[in-house]
Amino acid sequence: MVMSYLFSLILVMDIIVSGWSFGVDGLSMNYYIMNCPFAEGIIKNTVNMALQSDPTLAAGLVRMHFHDCFVEGCDGSVLIDSTKGNTAEKDSPANLSLRGYEIIDKAKEEIEKQCPGVVSCADIVAMAARDAVFFAGGPVYDIPKGRKDGRRSKIEDTMKLPSPTLNSSELIRMFGQRGFTAQEMVALSGAHTLGVARCSSFKHRLSNFDTTNNVDPTLDTQFAKTLSKTCSRGDNAEQTFDSTRKQF
Ligand SMILES: *[C@@H]1O[C@H](CO)[C@@H](O)[C@H](O)[C@H]1NC(C)=O
Ligand SMILES: *[C@@H]1O[C@H](CO)[C@@H](O)[C@H](O)[C@H]1NC(C)=O
Repeated sequence: MVMSYLFSLILVMDIIVSGWSFGVDGLSMNYYIMNCPFAEGIIKNTVNMALQSDPTLAAGLVRMHFHDCFVEGCDGSVLIDSTKGNTAEKDSPANLSLRGYEIIDKAKEEIEKQCPGVVSCADIVAMAARDAVFFAGGPVYDIPKGRKDGRRSKIEDTMKLPSPTLNSSELIRMFGQRGFTAQEMVALSGAHTLGVARCSSFKHRLSNFDTTNNVDPTLDTQFAKTLSKTCSRGDNAEQTFDSTRKQF
């Protein structure tokens, strides 16, 4: 009795001293430590198992986290299915690049068996993206948890996602509206070290770019040739961003 009281006192002290206390936004690194301590482990196992059979899904999970957060915040709304009266974010043309929904579903299912109704889907998406980065050889990082799931998911909100046709000043402005500096925008874009681009998202730079030039003059000539060759295989042809599509 005394021991357990002492233990909880130490824990509380630890929470206060090490700054584990809840931030003003209600998020905390140890949000689930009392009511679902194994949540992070379950997600990591689920992600690792799925990526072992298909490593290309790492890029999908990182992208899903971004698409979820950029539209109305990190609230899991990217997971919501369309209904008879509502077309959800998921069914936007921007969804083409989103993969790995089944991994999130599986992790949620496993977690619900242990602690029903505790861990939000929004947190699962964020943690799965983190675990995918680590699986792909990237850094590990701790994330604050405690996000609540949103119920709004509308196709028109995905207009707020940055289109692949935007130039640098437009991208800087768009990310600026979300509170990111140009430097942070560039760092986030570095996540493209994983995955591929489809021809449909860059072919506008390869022909009829403007009235005087057929090819975007800022593109390296040799690189433009490589891209054109890829696009000769059609709009869905894939081009890697760097030499390793599966390595962060
Ligand atoms: C993605 O969007 C397209 C076009 O809006 C739609 O036809 C397709 O069913 C969607 N895919 C998924 C997996 O929701
Ligand atoms: C980007 O596009 C906008 C709108 O078309 C244009 O005003 C701006 O000058 C462009 N910026 C760059 C860096 O090309």
